Amino acid sequence: MLPKDGLSGIFVREISQDMIKDSQALITEKESWKEYYLLSLKSPGIAQQAKPGQFIMVRIDPQPYPLLRRPFSIHSKDEENIEIFFQKTGSGTALLAQKEINDSLDILGPLGKGYKVDPGFKGKTVIMVGGGRGIAPLYFLAQELATLGAEVKIFYGAKSLSDLCLKDKFERNDFKLFYSTEDGSLGFKGLVSDFLAEKLPSLAPEFMYSCGPEAMMEKIAQIAMEKEIPAEFSLESIMGCGFGICWSCVRRIRQEGQETWLKICEEGPVFSKEQIIW
Ligand SMILES: Cc1cc2nc3c(=O)[nH]c(=O)nc-3n(C[C@H](O)[C@H](O)[C@H](O)COP(=O)(O)OP(=O)(O)OC[C@H]3O[C@@H](n4cnc5c(N)ncnc54)[C@H](O)[C@@H]3O)c2cc1C
Ligand code: FES
Repeated sequence: MLPKDGLSGIFVREISQDMIKDSQALITEKESWKEYYLLSLKSPGIAQQAKPGQFIMVRIDPQPYPLLRRPFSIHSKDEENIEIFFQKTGSGTALLAQKEINDSLDILGPLGKGYKVDPGFKGKTVIMVGGGRGIAPLYFLAQELATLGAEVKIFYGAKSLSDLCLKDKFERNDFKLFYSTEDGSLGFKGLVSDFLAEKLPSLAPEFMYSCGPEAMMEKIAQIAMEKEIPAEFSLESIMGCGFGICWSCVRRIRQEGQETWLKICEEGPVFSKEQIIW
């Protein structure tokens, strides 16, 4: 029988065997900084299957508005819980920010294809570049790659020190961190892409990963092209369903040398630098 939870729940079970609908994901922890929020959600089924770069679709409220679920990257996971880190950008995220510990959310996941996690990166340097809320999926990825023995170096850029909300959390791990702020309140003064370009010659990475504003990722992709470093990027798009039925997320992408329309939710959100048409 199909789940009767409104438009965004229709056909869920028919679409993917791997996708789980958890209508009672309990909020067990909450932290906030200015317009940024971190929620821990108890959802063992999704936690066990989640891979770095995948996302969940969150039904913000049982009320008809907002009707459509909103996508959020899986920021971290343990045996039973996943975390999401989000920025209040509109009405849905403003409502989500009001949720408290012991409230529950209706979520779908894990969705999409994530970042490349290669055991061959053991002992090799990998670089991650996150801008603002785009840092969200890179924590989970960094933890997985560090567990495999990769040397994880993270460029974390934001407008100002107060936007580098996850600084302390990242520093509790064995990652090498490079900070940049546009106002110079911490680390390199300027854009994180310029900081990367300056540091790259001394780092010799095997692979680069990025998530953040599209203009930032485009610059990182240019650098990766020039230096011939393999790189992957997580794209954002307006998403109606998150699992391939509504076509709201299509974008021109190169596949096997040909340009074609692809659904970001199913074929992405992670794509290589060669695939993305900026
Ligand atoms: C795969 C994926 C993963 C994401 N992960 C995160 C995350 O980890 N943390 C986080 O803070 N945000 C993330 N986003 C973006 C997040 O989904 C949007 O910020 C959110 O849906 C906005 O909802 P809203 O109701 O608050 O905004 P609305 O009121 O609907 O719109 C406010 C503004 O946000 C823009 N917007 C709406 N939806 C999206 C969207 N899906 N992507 C980009 N811009 C949007 C609108 O064009 C508008 O300018 C992700 C998006 C995708 C596609
Ligand atoms: S979001 Fe519906 S098809 Fe991608």
